[in-house]
Amino acid sequence: MKSFQKEISRRRTFGIISHPDAGKTTLTEKLLLFGGAIQEAGAVKSNKIKKGATSDFMEIERQRGISVATSVLGFEYKDIKINILDTPGHKDFAEDTFRTLTAVDSVIVVIDVAKGVEEQTEKLVEVCRMRNIPMIVFINKLDREGKDAFELLDEIEQKLNLTVTPLSFPIGMGYDFKGIYNIWEKNVNLFTGDPRKDIEETVEISDLNSEELDHLIGDTAADTLREELELTQGVYPEFDKEAYLQGNLQPVFFGSALNNFGVRELLDCFIEIAPKPRPKDSDVRTVKPDENQFTGFVFKIHANMDPKHRDRLAFIKIVSGKFERNKPYLHVRQGKKLKFSSPNAFFAEKKEIVDVSYPGDIVGLHDTGNFKIGDTLTEGENLNYRGVPSFSPEHFRYINNADPMKSKQLEKGIDQLMDEGVAQLFTLEMNGRKVIGTVGALQFEVIQYRLEHEYGAKCTYENLNVYKATWVEAEDEKSEEFKDFKRVKAKFLAKDKRGQLVFFADSQFSLQMTQQKYPSLKFHFTSEF
Ligand code: G4P
Repeated sequence: MKSFQKEISRRRTFGIISHPDAGKTTLTEKLLLFGGAIQEAGAVKSNKIKKGATSDFMEIERQRGISVATSVLGFEYKDIKINILDTPGHKDFAEDTFRTLTAVDSVIVVIDVAKGVEEQTEKLVEVCRMRNIPMIVFINKLDREGKDAFELLDEIEQKLNLTVTPLSFPIGMGYDFKGIYNIWEKNVNLFTGDPRKDIEETVEISDLNSEELDHLIGDTAADTLREELELTQGVYPEFDKEAYLQGNLQPVFFGSALNNFGVRELLDCFIEIAPKPRPKDSDVRTVKPDENQFTGFVFKIHANMDPKHRDRLAFIKIVSGKFERNKPYLHVRQGKKLKFSSPNAFFAEKKEIVDVSYPGDIVGLHDTGNFKIGDTLTEGENLNYRGVPSFSPEHFRYINNADPMKSKQLEKGIDQLMDEGVAQLFTLEMNGRKVIGTVGALQFEVIQYRLEHEYGAKCTYENLNVYKATWVEAEDEKSEEFKDFKRVKAKFLAKDKRGQLVFFADSQFSLQMTQQKYPSLKFHFTSEF
């Protein structure tokens, strides 16, 4: 049996982030192929929302089914246990992705060589940068014409605010794409365009001046490569693992996921440099993975697709200790002990009940309504993990009950959907009316459909003109200023589900004016401050 320490140090839990269509699904699939976790291409279903689908929203329902299966993909490669956490690319589900990023130890950022840095990539990378999550960049689709390598590296530095260092470099591109020079391993991998080719077939070139390089790729390409590599050495810092781990330096790889080219290089470097499970801050102390006592937190809740079974799957990231089946654990928020007889571990194509899981792993627990996103489980210690915030929603509507006979069902449905993190519910202080706030407009349809199909309740919406919801923090709740604010803005105040005070600003201007008028109050854009 492998020791506890060894189990921790051989785990790598990460997410792949990208703008839709950059190649996240394709890359995931190729990584799984290397691990022998799947046998053929096409086995991983894309959970993205296809453009031009008949109804975006039916598509979401279909994807929801797929996304249970791809939520966590675990596999082994060279005795390393790899867990890939799925991150939806669609912008309406960005909040899901943000939350998942609280459970990863590092990320791989996929960028399309022709499109360069796109909007979703910018947003997601910003979140990772704020949390100092180590990032590796993979520039994909080198088999197509795209931007010049230096131009792209520049763009990544400028738009994503990163400090990059290439660990591989393309030889040509598109029609002229000859392969890549692997700076990390010092070898050349020639591109044949045949994804089935023996992927280990690389040619060692430790001395760039050797004539073998000219034989391999031709004189002109060899000279260009030598020049370009010299230039990279002058322009970019040398790779430094510590700087990468601290989130201060981002290595870059080039390749073509579709052709399974440059992916092995990425994976081999990844398992060597990517962080093993890291310590995590809680409200009382920092918890280290190798502590004996189990702790973990819920970062995602997935409702059962079968409306007859109302149970849900809560995804727990293990932070420390071992998670064992049938052992009682403390649900800190509820202050009660719970036992789990069938915790699921995730593998590439299936989930299985397991007896023991380790830090870095994700377990899926069947839940009948105990969990909310952000909940902490421990062996008895009273601590809460932070960092699974709610984000300020951008779309708001009143929600009304359309079937008075079903008000209980409606209440329960809304309650559970909010726990899953589909949207946020606010109650207006003035009249008690309920307002749903979402990050994307699609969620309203999702909520309506799911309320009807899973809870037998009907709702209608009414528009509400709100620009942003901000969480209000008062230095002194007894101050005249706070009292004045509450009186003057009474119409715009609400409580969130946890009872925190929220201010609805109807425009950016009114938010600014309010901030100026009440300088001792703080207006936060996330629920954790
Ligand atoms: P995503 O998950 O990031 O949204 O992207 P996905 O992997 O689904 O890839 C988006 C499209 O880009 C797919 O084509 C995929 O085949 C293609 N692609 C991925 N990697 C490469 C690459 O290295 N080179 C080239 N040329 N194309 C690549 P599609 O036509 O949209 O979908 P499909 O019908 O092929 O599945």
